Amino acid sequence: MKIKNICCIGAGYVGGPTMAVIAQKCPEIKVTVVDINESRIAAWNDEDVDNIPIYEPGLSNIVKEARGRNLFFSTEVDSAIDKADMIFISVNTPTKTYGMGKGMAADLKFIELCARQIARVSTSDKIVIEKSTLPVRTAEALKNILDNTGNGVNYQILSNPEFLAEGTAVDDLMNPDRVLIGGDIDSDKGKEAVKALVDIYAHWVPREQILTTNVWSSELSKLTANAFLAQRVSSINAMSELCEKTGADVNEVAKAVGMDSRIGPKFLKASVGFGGSCFQKDILNLVYIAKSFGLEEVANYWEQVIIMNDHQKKRFATKIVKTLFNTVSGKKIGILGWAFKKDTNDTRESAAIYVTDYLLNEQAEIVVYDPKVKAEQVYADLDYLNTRTEAENRARVKVVNTPYEAAYQTHAVAIMTEWDEFKELDWPQIYEDMLKPAFLFDGRRLLERKTKEKIGFEFYAIGS
Ligand code: UDX
Ligand code: ADP
Repeated sequence: MKIKNICCIGAGYVGGPTMAVIAQKCPEIKVTVVDINESRIAAWNDEDVDNIPIYEPGLSNIVKEARGRNLFFSTEVDSAIDKADMIFISVNTPTKTYGMGKGMAADLKFIELCARQIARVSTSDKIVIEKSTLPVRTAEALKNILDNTGNGVNYQILSNPEFLAEGTAVDDLMNPDRVLIGGDIDSDKGKEAVKALVDIYAHWVPREQILTTNVWSSELSKLTANAFLAQRVSSINAMSELCEKTGADVNEVAKAVGMDSRIGPKFLKASVGFGGSCFQKDILNLVYIAKSFGLEEVANYWEQVIIMNDHQKKRFATKIVKTLFNTVSGKKIGILGWAFKKDTNDTRESAAIYVTDYLLNEQAEIVVYDPKVKAEQVYADLDYLNTRTEAENRARVKVVNTPYEAAYQTHAVAIMTEWDEFKELDWPQIYEDMLKPAFLFDGRRLLERKTKEKIGFEFYAIGS
């Protein structure tokens, strides 16, 4: 089966970059990315590719090359679905905020809406691919809706989880460790569908790195990979607190441990806590699934990874308050970095949000600088917590355009995101501009202690 037309529903952090790379690597296939969010689609179509809605190193050049050739962004969802032979579902699956499974289970309403829409408009056979991270056995529900509400056309459901990390999305897509495709490998039609997707990735990924499994293994592997990665971060963060009490240094410990080839060096960087749209959501989801099968010990084991992460964020905020003589009331504090990691403008679950919220509860005045995050996003993130009124958030949090403004006349500055540019700042100037004693809190182990102390800063870094 030769695929000529792909549609991707959802032009977000996953759908946008993934489709851009598929379009670039497969110029003979027409790829249309659709979304109901008109302003997002308008931004993807902006003449100036620097204005596309997602910041990822290298992405704008790929969009420039493929857009208008075989890559299209559109709000015409129905017609794109009907024309496609292959449909990727790449819509958001946030944690439920209501009803059964509130705060834990993935909210599948957007997925279900997509399935119903596909069923309603399709007049020819389709391969439907789960790209969003989903609870294991979601494919079964998808198939049920498609088969029972459709126009009698044939659907093959595949699971093809995306392992890209934000900030390195283009490189992760170009050189993936592996591509995982789950399908109904016991039937001929299922095998054919899997092969069609394998053939697409084989344009640039070596065959031996394309794994095919049954659908349930594929769905569960994605949750498992994220849970393992998050667990490593929580493990090293747990050690960071012990390091602070014992005089050990968490970077030295991580290095010594990571040189054991059985453990490996990656994902051992202590931080103020992991953020991002995946780790917390996927673990909560895993915990929910385990609980729903009555597996209490399994659920409790994984839940501890989240508990540790929440503790790390709170611990950092408390450290600031305690160090500033037990009160930050009326004190100005500069927050450097709002994104959940460097090289992305994504702020979902960023530790900066929670630390700021805690400091605002302690009546601090906050000034934020992030090189890629816009002021509206900072306010939207704080408003979303519902801790105080929108007016209060705007009155007590200022978002500025330079790190120097963020530090000016503050009692303390906290590094929340490991942006490279923070290493190169004119720190003597920042020290000069701050109130004394000038406190510097490094939540990312980004800065060198010795040089900062020499300037005169009172310096605290996670895990040392
Ligand atoms: C993650 C997975 O890595 C990716 O495979 C999956 O597809 C989506 O979820 P992402 O959330 O984009 O990707 O970023 P990642 O690099 O995994 O970082 C997640 C969080 O952990 C960030 O806040 C990061 O700063 C933090 N982190 C990561 C650490 O604190 N220490 C580390 O050593 C690594
Ligand atoms: P992710 O990080 O998983 O890519 P995002 O939230 O960045 O998540 O993107 C998901 C996108 O899916 C959003 O832009 C949203 O508007 C879009 N979306 C959700 N439901 C639908 C739908 N039924 N039809 C089209 N687009 C949708």
